[in-house]
Amino acid sequence: PLEVPRPTLVKEPELDVDDGKKKVAIFFGTQTGTAEGFAKDDYAVDDEEYEEKLKKESLAFFFLATYGDGEPTDNAARFYKWFTEGEERGEWLPNLQYGVFGLGNRQYEHFNKVAKVADDVLTNQGAKRLVPVGLGDDDQCIEDDFTAWKELVWPELDQLLRDEDDTTVTTPYTAAVLEYRVEFHDPVDASIEKKSWANANGHAVVDAQHPCRADVAVRRELHTHESDRSCTHLEFEIGGTGVSYETGDHVGVYCENLTEIVEEALNILGLSPETYFSIHTDKEDGTPISGGSLPPTFPPCTLRTALAQYADVLSSPKKSALLALAAHASNPAEADRLRYLASPAGKDEYAQWVVASQRSLLEVMAEFPSAKPPLGVFFASVAPRLQPRYYSISSSPRMAPSRIHVTCALVYEKTPTGRIHNGVCSTWMKNAVPAEKSDDCSWAPIFVRQSNFKLPADTKVPIIMIGPGTGLAPFRGFLQERLALKESGADLGPSVLFFGCRNRRMDYIYEEELANFVETGALSELVVAFSREGPTKEYVQHKMMQKASDIWNMISQGAYIYVCGDAKGMAKDVHRTLHTIAQEQGSLDSSKAESLVKNLQMNGRYLRDVW
Ligand code: 2AM
Repeated sequence: PLEVPRPTLVKEPELDVDDGKKKVAIFFGTQTGTAEGFAKDDYAVDDEEYEEKLKKESLAFFFLATYGDGEPTDNAARFYKWFTEGEERGEWLPNLQYGVFGLGNRQYEHFNKVAKVADDVLTNQGAKRLVPVGLGDDDQCIEDDFTAWKELVWPELDQLLRDEDDTTVTTPYTAAVLEYRVEFHDPVDASIEKKSWANANGHAVVDAQHPCRADVAVRRELHTHESDRSCTHLEFEIGGTGVSYETGDHVGVYCENLTEIVEEALNILGLSPETYFSIHTDKEDGTPISGGSLPPTFPPCTLRTALAQYADVLSSPKKSALLALAAHASNPAEADRLRYLASPAGKDEYAQWVVASQRSLLEVMAEFPSAKPPLGVFFASVAPRLQPRYYSISSSPRMAPSRIHVTCALVYEKTPTGRIHNGVCSTWMKNAVPAEKSDDCSWAPIFVRQSNFKLPADTKVPIIMIGPGTGLAPFRGFLQERLALKESGADLGPSVLFFGCRNRRMDYIYEEELANFVETGALSELVVAFSREGPTKEYVQHKMMQKASDIWNMISQGAYIYVCGDAKGMAKDVHRTLHTIAQEQGSLDSSKAESLVKNLQMNGRYLRDVW
């Protein structure tokens, strides 16, 4: 999936200091760093030791993001499972007052599900809700949602502390601009930076914080020349790296901004690309920089490298970034306009001029040429970290033990301002130089993220796979796995794959391989919907309706159902179609059909890998 989390930084709290001051516990369930930014003036508790900590707390705030299929983030997954399965604990949190702020996106079916569920469970387990659950909507302006929610929080806190000891809370949220301390160093030979990646990453684990260098072994275009779009098949070499994966896992890829984007950023900042610097979260005397938690640092490097690897300059700037720019704009009119855009009065204009127009940070900075933030401000408050991109792995380790295959559609679009937006990672993949073509091949820091999108343990269980476009990716892995299992003598249950593309002459990706899976018996039936061949659009869900009785039979025989691809359109429509099939084929009323589909989901027989 293509949500773009980045490594989480959880600050170690000073837990047991009892200085008589009221403490607030903050729980983060976020990967993008957005929630950390919101909670910055407080301290964080690692959610590993949650039970003990929750019991001790009298006041806690939870910042919980919801992803893809209504799931929590990796770092909150254990907490969420443990917490929501805790009915038998009863009302065990009678002394806790709490607030929940959710980070979600209204375009998705399970808008802020994690936050809503956590909020309910907290109340059911005896805790007292201080403010209504905040439903941050990333589709609009999540910063505004947070500001509005915060306005509800302060009076409550004020009241709470007044009740206790006559102190008042003064709103600590002044818009301070966070800034790293920057040290400039003598220019270095660029090869030093490259070499630091030459070896294994030196950590026992490979994860988002400790990715591992992987060379591009193979790259090829999957669309034909008749297509005006592009889809890349890419293979990362993982032999000898210690990285391993299972069929259905995701690979996280850290890629670089394109050279022309880096050049543009250098121009706008007006600094030399060879500026060699390091960023620090402490002052020169070693005391931490106060005022909030800074984003994670990166190793000393040239400005060119920093802009290529760490700065997201193509997303729209947040309001806090506009304020940081305003603080460093030498032209007062520009500073005023930036502040206006970030203010409540400028809300509509921000929504239109920045968000709806998809104005990138670089475009915005180009409009305010007098705003020249120093590097410490630029990397702390203006440009967020470039996020790793996640892809559903399209191979099986049984077939490709030393390779991770990726199937990636090129993101290439014209934004409302006329800018051509090249997706950072998909463009990098499209242009990658594979080892089979050059000794100086492309490589990227990567890591594997486990998923629960897995084949049934029993190979005889029937499976139904639905994956149009690049949603095919994990199913290619599934089918490789089944082929390998079959070759080693396993008995395979029936399987059907619903694939969809525009036109067989353009974007019927992996056509030969799919035919081969059918021929060898790894796949019992292949059903393809071509959306732009005939006079009417045909989608996977239409094909499913035509095969409704087969699908129903398979479900009755215990089939697992897998859906992969676009969450906003396709997965929603397929979900409704499953519901209809259950209703019609099983002669169930709507609510019975609904609970049947829910049960499949609860029992892990209906799995989705959607984005
Ligand atoms: P379209 O581009 O012709 O609309 C892979 O992207 C395939 O998924 C394409 O054939 C695309 O068709 C199709 N598609 C688009 N929206 C869909 C939806 N809501 N449900 C199923 N398939 C969809």
